Amino acid sequence: MTTERNEARGSEWTIQRVLTWASDDFKKRGLESARLDAELLLTQVLGVDRVRLIVDSKRPLVGAELTRYRSLIQRRRTNEPMAYILGAKEFFGRAFRADRRALIPRPDTETLVEVALDRTRLSSLDGDALDLCTGSGCVAVTLKKERPTWRVTAIDISEEAIALARENALRLNAVWGSRFLVSDLTSALRTEEKFDLVTANPPYIPSSAVDELDVGIREFEPRVALDGGADGFDLIRRVVQQGAERLRPGGVFATEVMLGQAAAVRELLEKAGLESISTARDYAGIERVVSGRRHS
Ligand SMILES: C[S@@+](CC[C@H](N)C(=O)[O-])C[C@H]1O[C@@H](n2cnc3c(N)ncnc32)[C@H](O)[C@@H]1O
Repeated sequence: MTTERNEARGSEWTIQRVLTWASDDFKKRGLESARLDAELLLTQVLGVDRVRLIVDSKRPLVGAELTRYRSLIQRRRTNEPMAYILGAKEFFGRAFRADRRALIPRPDTETLVEVALDRTRLSSLDGDALDLCTGSGCVAVTLKKERPTWRVTAIDISEEAIALARENALRLNAVWGSRFLVSDLTSALRTEEKFDLVTANPPYIPSSAVDELDVGIREFEPRVALDGGADGFDLIRRVVQQGAERLRPGGVFATEVMLGQAAAVRELLEKAGLESISTARDYAGIERVVSGRRHS
């Protein structure tokens, strides 16, 4: 993409040409959705949608646009996730800011929100929700948007993640009635604080498996958001115990798990005194969310 040389030859870098060039480059490097990535990066540079790229396919890029596009291509070549480059990820129909301060919201986690909303629908007018391990705040902010009259507490051990969660709440107009705390799980809460709903998507990947993850995940997403200790259950065990202790009678606890963990987590919920335990599958049919209720 040498601007001067090509312009001198009369073959300008039009939208169509840069897209072909960038998607071929990504394909050669083994990136799966090469064309889509090339297009999304260009929409970011030009501030337009994908339809405009087709309509204006013959429009040449000016020098500054080419420079910016080149720098985004460079980032993608290192396998940096698209959500971090674009600075956004959609979750439950809303656009969340995404950057390296926190895990990128995943579609699987929408199942956690669905379970939480479903199991609390009879008390939908008033309640207190606690989201442990909140990261970008995608679960906490979504709960606040879907249950505007509830009070929501979001907790994360990472100061950076909490800053991002707060930004997301501000952007999505979900600050009123929400609070964001830096804390090792529930340690910053007063002893008497109880909740009608506790959600969590804790780090649950066994330490040894974290190093086997796709390069885009293991090199760019925070390790504290992924690593669940030797067997993957370090945080899950504490989240279940502390979450269950914080429930009011009738309150619901729901946690995300990874493939193969659901049966063991159901037992943990039972031991923590929860009842009506159930498991929900994600869009791929994997047992993804284990939930239970405190009856008394
Ligand atoms: C898997 S990420 C989930 C983020 C977000 N809830 C989501 O679903 O995208 C786990 C989060 O747990 C946080 N975390 C790890 N250990 C923690 C602890 N002891 N107390 C509170 N948060 C913790 C990490 O900082 C990270 O943001």
